[in-house]
Amino acid sequence: MLTQTELLTKKGEHIQQMFGSIASVYDLLNTLLSLNFDKSWRKFAVKVSNVTPGAKVLDVCTGTGDLAIAYSKVLNGGGKVIGSDFCHEMVKLADHKLRKKNLSNKIEVLGADTLHLPFQDNYFQVSAVAFGIRNVSDLRAGIAEMVRITAPGGRVVILEFSQPTNPLFKAIYYFYFKKILPLLGKLISRSKYNAYSYLPSSVLTFPDRYGLKKKMESCGLADVKIFSRTMGIVTIHVGKKSCK
Ligand SMILES: C[S@@+](CC[C@H](N)C(=O)[O-])C[C@H]1O[C@@H](n2cnc3c(N)ncnc32)[C@H](O)[C@@H]1O
Repeated sequence: MLTQTELLTKKGEHIQQMFGSIASVYDLLNTLLSLNFDKSWRKFAVKVSNVTPGAKVLDVCTGTGDLAIAYSKVLNGGGKVIGSDFCHEMVKLADHKLRKKNLSNKIEVLGADTLHLPFQDNYFQVSAVAFGIRNVSDLRAGIAEMVRITAPGGRVVILEFSQPTNPLFKAIYYFYFKKILPLLGKLISRSKYNAYSYLPSSVLTFPDRYGLKKKMESCGLADVKIFSRTMGIVTIHVGKKSCK
C-alpha cells in the first residue's frame, strides 16, 4: 500500500497501478463526483481548441477515451483522433467503449507514456489532455512532448482542476473536495491506493492557472489563453505552437 507522499512523487508505475485499481469505476465516479459537469468541461475544451475539419488530434492520458470521443463528435468522421494512455486497464476500457459506441473506425486508442509519445514531430494539429497532465511525473517534459508532436500553428490544450477564486465558494467547495469526495471515492472504488485522496492533494500541489500558463510558454507555446469554468473548479489552457 502506497502512502500519499509516495503517490505524490508521481512515479510512473505507482500512477499506473493507482489508475488501474479504479479503472472499472472511473466513469461512474466521474459522473457522480462532478455532478455530471465533466462532460460539459470536455465539450468546452474541444470548442476552444480551434479544431478544423480534417485535423489530426491526439488525446494523451485518454483514460476511458471521453475527450477523444468529444473531439471525434466535432470532426464528424473527418480527420483522425487518437487516444493514448500508459495504464493498460484504462486502454482496455476505452477500446471496449469505442466498440460499444461504434466509434472504433473513427478513434484509435493505444498504450503510450505521455513522456515518450510514439509519433513524429509536428504530426497533430491539436494535442490535448483532460485531468491527466497533473499526474505526469515531469510536468514540463510532458508538455514539451505534447508540443513536439504538434504542428506549427497547432494547439496544445490542457483541461485540469484548478482552485476557485471566490473565497466563499472556495470554502464550501474545498469542504466537499477535501473531505466528502475522498470518502465517497474510497467507498465506491474500494481502491487500496486512496486515489480519491490523491486527487485533491495533487490538485492543491499543482501550479495555479498563471503558473501553468508560464510553464506552457516555457515549452514554446504562445498566445496562451485561460478559460475558467464552473466558478474556477476547472481551467482550460490553450496555447499555440509558434510557426517559426
Ligand atoms: C484522471 S485520468 C483522466 C482520464 C481522461 N483524460 C478523462 O478526461 O477522464 C488520468 C489518466 O492519465 C493517465 N496517465 C497518467 N500519467 C500518464 C503518463 N505519463 N502517460 C500516459 N498516461 C498517463 C492515467 O493512466 C489515467 O488514465
